[in-house]
Amino acid sequence: MGGDSRSIQAAAKKMGQTETRILSIVNQKGGCGKTTTTVNLAGALAAQGSRVLVVDMDPQAHATLALGIDPDELSQNLCEVLSDPGGPTRLEQILIQVSTGIELAPASLALSDLEHRISFKQSGAKTGRLKSVLHSIPWVYDFVLIDCPPALNLLTLNALWASTSVIVPLEASFFAVDGVQKLLSTIGLLEERIGHSLNARVLPTLFDGRTRYARETLRDIRTLFYEHCFDTVIRQNVKLQEAARHGMPIHRYAPSTPGAEDYAAAAAEVAIWRPSVRARQHFLAEDGNVAPTLEREVLIHFQDETSGDVRVAGDFNGWVPDKNVASRVESNGPDRVWTKVLRLAPGTYQYRCVIDGEWCTDPGNPDSVAGPMGHPNSVLHVR
Ligand SMILES: Nc1ncnc2c1ncn2[C@@H]1O[C@H](COP(=O)(O)OP(=O)(O)O)[C@@H](O)[C@H]1O
Ligand SMILES: [Mg+2]
Repeated sequence: MGGDSRSIQAAAKKMGQTETRILSIVNQKGGCGKTTTTVNLAGALAAQGSRVLVVDMDPQAHATLALGIDPDELSQNLCEVLSDPGGPTRLEQILIQVSTGIELAPASLALSDLEHRISFKQSGAKTGRLKSVLHSIPWVYDFVLIDCPPALNLLTLNALWASTSVIVPLEASFFAVDGVQKLLSTIGLLEERIGHSLNARVLPTLFDGRTRYARETLRDIRTLFYEHCFDTVIRQNVKLQEAARHGMPIHRYAPSTPGAEDYAAAAAEVAIWRPSVRARQHFLAEDGNVAPTLEREVLIHFQDETSGDVRVAGDFNGWVPDKNVASRVESNGPDRVWTKVLRLAPGTYQYRCVIDGEWCTDPGNPDSVAGPMGHPNSVLHVR
């Protein structure tokens, strides 16, 4: 396997010098469209001329199957590579060219045992396995898409660790805010450890516009995530299931279907998604100097004796706890005092505190509204 991929890689674009973008498709809930999104986004990006590597990090190997490869017929897969990155099996050896513009790093059931296979190593090295493996090969890809298992486990942490952006598929007709909050908390904690930002965006999936409930849920998702939500919505389309069973992306199996249209639109959004550039534009004038902005410094205080960790998450930071927030912690007698410093343009914002992992309204702010998902959010007015 992998002869084709090696010849492509001879072009040898080096990681870091290129535009290669690594995206994880993550949600610990099963059945929300992660694998469908990975495979069909890869198909749509390839159809638009990009070179894509799909990394299947799910032991169930659904992305491998949906790209037409039977994991049982492979002698080597991602598990061998991740178990022993310095060992005899290298990533390049397991890559399979599945169609024009798409290569696959296939999964197998053995991946579920990865934790035990590398348990003798210290934990920092465990979460960085995939990243170091990806950095070990020459790069010719425009995108690397990593399909994650339905759990916030070592495999998902490896995927997030290697990524710069995260797509969170949300089932538009069955959306529970608690699971997403847990995921966003994990992303917030990881950002601190990795030392770079993970830009997360939610992608509404499995949307059935005929039901009022789905339409309302979609509106709630948009209200909650605002600019951190794709404009594209993936509609329910049975052809997506058929395409997976036939082992090919929808753009090849049935190009004139809603599923193909929606993933083409999502791919177009991914292609122009440049979150870091956009964030910088807030602060830099054309000559590169710091521009005067309308943003104000906003302080949120929290004082308590027993809490160990206090963060804030709101529509201003995509609900990722403490993202773009500076923190100061001081002592006041037996109490600890947290001061959260935000820079916000005038407007009204909704937010919640995350106190030792528990999401709640700000105890120091009496102003709250019923948030879109039914629970109350604190309100911040910046004038
Ligand atoms: N937009 C869609 N329309 C119809 N069926 C879909 C759609 N998205 C996903 N599915 C189907 O729903 C099931 C779960 O999707 P999948 O992508 O495997 O979810 P996950 O990877 O999050 O577990 C699969 O059978 C898949 O074919
Ligand atoms: Mg899946």
